[in-house]
Amino acid sequence: MKSKPASFSETTITELMIPSYANFSGKIHGGILLSLMDKVAFACASKHSGEYCVTVSVEGVEFFQPVEVGELVSLTGSVIYVGKTSMIVGIHIESMKPKTGETKHTNDCYFTMVAKNEAGEKTTVPSLAIENIKQLKRFVEGKEIKKFSRKKRKLLDMGIEAYNKEDLINACLNERCDVSKI
Ligand SMILES: CC(C)(COP(=O)(O)OP(=O)(O)OC[C@H]1O[C@@H](n2cnc3c(N)ncnc32)[C@H](O)[C@@H]1OP(=O)(O)O)[C@@H](O)C(=O)NCCC(=O)NCCS
Repeated sequence: MKSKPASFSETTITELMIPSYANFSGKIHGGILLSLMDKVAFACASKHSGEYCVTVSVEGVEFFQPVEVGELVSLTGSVIYVGKTSMIVGIHIESMKPKTGETKHTNDCYFTMVAKNEAGEKTTVPSLAIENIKQLKRFVEGKEIKKFSRKKRKLLDMGIEAYNKEDLINACLNERCDVSKI
């Protein structure tokens, strides 16, 4: 299977933020932006793998600044890391006021996507052809994200199950919850 460079999967989607995307305070719903991120992630992962892909997890979505109605949101993504059947897509999001050209950086995030074959089974994806130091840094960043995400899942699965009732109640001391009815 031939390696593919990140440039092969690079995809940008630009969308105008229309009034129906706004919440009660006039800002754009986070869910609208998440849906656009998912589309870019799918486009990048399916280009890289040449297969239909599914979203497995989303890491590091933070909303730095609100997006307003009338702005043009551009999401640029590419595959930054490749495992066996999974790929991590890094996405950079900017929003621009078309009248002034003023641009703000609103989000960065990472989507893990898995390629599936026609039978719906996980399938091996091409390796990533690294062409410069920046891409090498991003690949190692992706490797760390995968490691961190696995560790987090393990901690949540195993860690909490190992707690007994007393441990759980102690963990809630000084937290803003009422455990007096348990
Ligand atoms: C994603 C899916 C194929 C994983 O199946 P699985 O049998 O548990 O697969 P594995 O444990 O072998 O993991 C497959 C790959 O996904 C990665 N992966 C699995 N769960 C993950 C998670 N929660 N977060 C990040 N990566 C994950 C694994 O690291 C592995 O990567 P690699 O092959 O590159 O090493 C399966 O859970 C699935 O189909 N989920 C539904 C996806 C979906 O419907 N998405 C929303 C609509 S698109």
